[in-house]
Amino acid sequence: MEVVSQKLIADRVFELVLKGDIVLAMHPGQFMQLKPRRADLLLRRPISICAIDKAREQCTLLYRVDGDGTADFAELIAGDAIDVIAPLGNGFAPQETKPGEHALLIGGGIGVPPLYQLGKELVAQGSTVTFVLGFSSAKDVFYEKEMGELGDCFVATVDGTRGTQGFVTTVTDALDFVPDTVYSCGPTAMLRVVSERFADKRTFLSLEERMACGVGACYACVCQRTDDPTKSYKACDEGPVFRAGEVVI
Ligand SMILES: Cc1cc2nc3c(=O)[nH]c(=O)nc-3n(C[C@H](O)[C@H](O)[C@H](O)COP(=O)(O)OP(=O)(O)OC[C@H]3O[C@@H](n4cnc5c(N)ncnc54)[C@H](O)[C@@H]3O)c2cc1C
Ligand code: FES
Repeated sequence: MEVVSQKLIADRVFELVLKGDIVLAMHPGQFMQLKPRRADLLLRRPISICAIDKAREQCTLLYRVDGDGTADFAELIAGDAIDVIAPLGNGFAPQETKPGEHALLIGGGIGVPPLYQLGKELVAQGSTVTFVLGFSSAKDVFYEKEMGELGDCFVATVDGTRGTQGFVTTVTDALDFVPDTVYSCGPTAMLRVVSERFADKRTFLSLEERMACGVGACYACVCQRTDDPTKSYKACDEGPVFRAGEVVI
């Protein structure tokens, strides 16, 4: 794909816009495997698709620089080419929420990005969305305004420097409505609590398991099935989105 633009939008968080006709096949909650340009970084890095613009054949990714691979991506500039495998994974299903129903979208840290395109598609089909986004601190917050244009958007920070002080559950425990569906992506500990709190709802969790191949060949990303502990799913091609209770988290 060709790099259209790249900019820093929060502490170590970049917004990268890419162009290519594979955008036409993308759905919310799917991810891409990006190949770092440094030759010694052999593994591709999985990054979620944040926004999809099929008319322009462009997609937006948001990623945080955590190590060598993401630091390599941060050097991309407009006009560069990047080697990608995409789209991968099953993604979120907006149609699990009916028009007129209310969906609660809960994101933690770098798990927030895939909820944006999901929110856009839910609103387009006539559903109501409320976002609850959790970050460590004000400097880490991103896309609060963009999500707020789609529905109510509540932010929680651990240190209380923005929004509610606490965790996403500090906000969700105080909500004045009962959601019909819940979609969530973020750290495992957060997903575990979300799946417990909303066990009686249609709840979908996107797992950001460590991955290697990203295409179902290496078994680096297996997660245990709850219905039969001797069996597992591969998060990269049977996920990364699962129904709450479907896998052990
Ligand atoms: C399906 C999927 C979607 C993802 N979407 C995004 C996204 O939209 N934006 C984003 O910033 N990141 C996302 N990640 C995490 C991202 O893939 C890792 O941060 C990245 O691979 C780290 O590569 P690196 O070379 O920079 O760091 P490395 O040197 O490989 O690791 C640096 C640090 O990141 C941690 N790390 C590495 N991989 C993961 C992972 N999969 N999950 C959590 N921590 C990890 C390591 O433990 C280490 O502490 C996603 C991961 C998956 C599996
Ligand atoms: S990452 Fe290789 S099978 Fe999932």
